[in-house]
Amino acid sequence: MKLLIAKDYDELSTRAATLVIETVKQRPVAVLGLATGATPLGMYANLVQSYARLEISFTQVRTFNLDDYVGLPRLSPDSFYQYMHRAFFSQTDVRPENIYLLDGTAHNLTDECVNYERYIEEVGGIDLQIVGIGRDGHLGFCEPGTSFESKTFVAKLTESTRQANAGGLQSLDEVPKRAITMGLSTIMSARKILLLANGQAKTDILRQALYGPVTEAVPASILQRHPDCTVILDALAAGE
Ligand code: F6R
Repeated sequence: MKLLIAKDYDELSTRAATLVIETVKQRPVAVLGLATGATPLGMYANLVQSYARLEISFTQVRTFNLDDYVGLPRLSPDSFYQYMHRAFFSQTDVRPENIYLLDGTAHNLTDECVNYERYIEEVGGIDLQIVGIGRDGHLGFCEPGTSFESKTFVAKLTESTRQANAGGLQSLDEVPKRAITMGLSTIMSARKILLLANGQAKTDILRQALYGPVTEAVPASILQRHPDCTVILDALAAGE
């Protein structure tokens, strides 16, 4: 595991974007695994700027997002589908047909999960998977206790995750109770993983995930077993 400490969130975001750009320059047909949440917003902003400066093109890139809510319409501003279009897709040349997002409104969620795994396999696997970490150690929506063997599945969200993700939704009641997410084994099958975390609220869980025992009680601890995982933290998340 390679650990990089950035002095602040801006530097974390630039470094993360640089890594994505290097990946795409080396392999223009790269398959990127993408995350939502507050953490990667700065990275997406940097990628959009680089694209606007004609430094990079995403026209051949394929993208697979980690997760989305079950039951939230794709047009809801709080869906991860909308987040991704706002933050990245609509501002770059990623082709709509190259964008894969789990559909939490699919009629048959089991088929949706199985098909997603098949699509990932068909494109030859994910080259670079970006992940954030939840305060309870979750990756994607793989909450504590999720099997390390899990493939894309429908997950029940914990109360703490629902509260942390309330976002623009008016009340906790509106936050979906389930999500559709890549499993931990799906995430681990990426050739490279980039974990991003900023802010003091993540210090404690990062210590457990990066230096504690590898246990399903802390899903992100599985990253210790990945052969090519880079972690970028800001100084606050890194703590002392
Ligand atoms: C997002 C995702 C989540 C977040 C995590 C951290 O697609 O899968 O696991 O990465 O909840 O969220 P933030 O970045 O908002 O702290």
